[in-house]
Amino acid sequence: MANFSDWQLGVYLNGLMGEVPTLPFGFAELERRAAETMEPRLFDYVAGGAGDEQTQSANVAEFAAYGLLPRMLSGAAQRDLSVSLLGLSLPTPILMAPVGVIGVCAPDGHGDLAAARAAAETGVPLIGSTLMQDPLEDVAAALGETPGLFQLYTPAERDVAESLVHRAEAAGYRGIVVTLDTWTLGYRPRDLRHGIFPQLTGACLANYASDPVFRSKLAVSPEEDPNAFVGYWALTFGNPGLTWDDVAWLRSLTPLPLVLKGICAPDDVRRARDAGVDGIYCSNHGGRQAASAPALSFLPGVVEAAGDLPVIFDSGVRSGADIVKALALGATAVGIGRPYAYAATLGGTDSIVHLLRCLLAEVDLTMGLNGYADLAALRDGGAVFRR
Ligand code: FNR
Repeated sequence: MANFSDWQLGVYLNGLMGEVPTLPFGFAELERRAAETMEPRLFDYVAGGAGDEQTQSANVAEFAAYGLLPRMLSGAAQRDLSVSLLGLSLPTPILMAPVGVIGVCAPDGHGDLAAARAAAETGVPLIGSTLMQDPLEDVAAALGETPGLFQLYTPAERDVAESLVHRAEAAGYRGIVVTLDTWTLGYRPRDLRHGIFPQLTGACLANYASDPVFRSKLAVSPEEDPNAFVGYWALTFGNPGLTWDDVAWLRSLTPLPLVLKGICAPDDVRRARDAGVDGIYCSNHGGRQAASAPALSFLPGVVEAAGDLPVIFDSGVRSGADIVKALALGATAVGIGRPYAYAATLGGTDSIVHLLRCLLAEVDLTMGLNGYADLAALRDGGAVFRR
């Protein structure tokens, strides 16, 4: 059986034939190249975060506080990175986290489709955001055999939420991820300095413009009066009144697996369990919403409280080694955020595929060279420690 790291052999082989790689192999270069490529307002939207941005910096820094214990002669020549998540058998433990501007990050302005095609090519599932540049049905169709999940920002109007969930179900998404930490927009100095953010220009609102229930609320169609459409979206995007009492309603909307995103407190994990959810998504939204603490510092407590429920983790993941550390701390699967938004800007599907292959090769080699053949070995205790 092939290992994911075999991919790098192809890079060297091509090099022998004179082909010099053009895409980055690490996050620092990826981010620098994206900053050079992207329109400054868009780069700031992706790179920026809440307040002084210390939370997002701490998300990244926290990974360096952990080390992996190398084990020798453990027979890890063949690795198995597969996981079972929400009833899905996945070849690898990584996911593309929902990124609501991925649509406009790709050079052709169809980044959701680019990400879906990258999912189809790599087997890495995409969690499609509510904020898409192409309708969720088109994105689902581009996923090929790879499963996708749909992320819901619960709108103020329940019938719109219901319509989005039912559309996602009909389109073939395999689970609904409800994001809880964005019932209103965080305080983001970079966006404030520009005085704008992408959705206010009408970008990434295709799921609303294509939704019959949302459209029925408008006096005139989005095509006839785009400003009124965006204005109504802005007024009804979030649902500040959502509480634990509403989780039963969310649960009742669909037989699909339901995951709550943004959970960091063990008590909230227990409430989510009691409400009958199928998975917990531990994340602080990449430090974009509220000033908090490094998301990784919450992971062990969340995993313990989750018991047999799967835990997806994101926030601050920049390398294959970060992914291995999060898995060793108990995450079932790990979400990639900003890195694939940056990758999209460098060339759409191909550059996202390149990023995912880099990360998977690094996960594979980090596990193998440290002596862990599979995720069970990694989680068997003692693989990860705080330095
Ligand atoms: C996000 N994130 C996000 N989350 C979500 O549930 N729905 C969304 O539409 C978005 N949109 C979005 C846009 C951009 C530009 C970013 C960077 C992030 C949060 C995302 O799913 C994930 O939690 C973070 O990206 C994780 O942090 P890092 O690893 O990217 O720093």
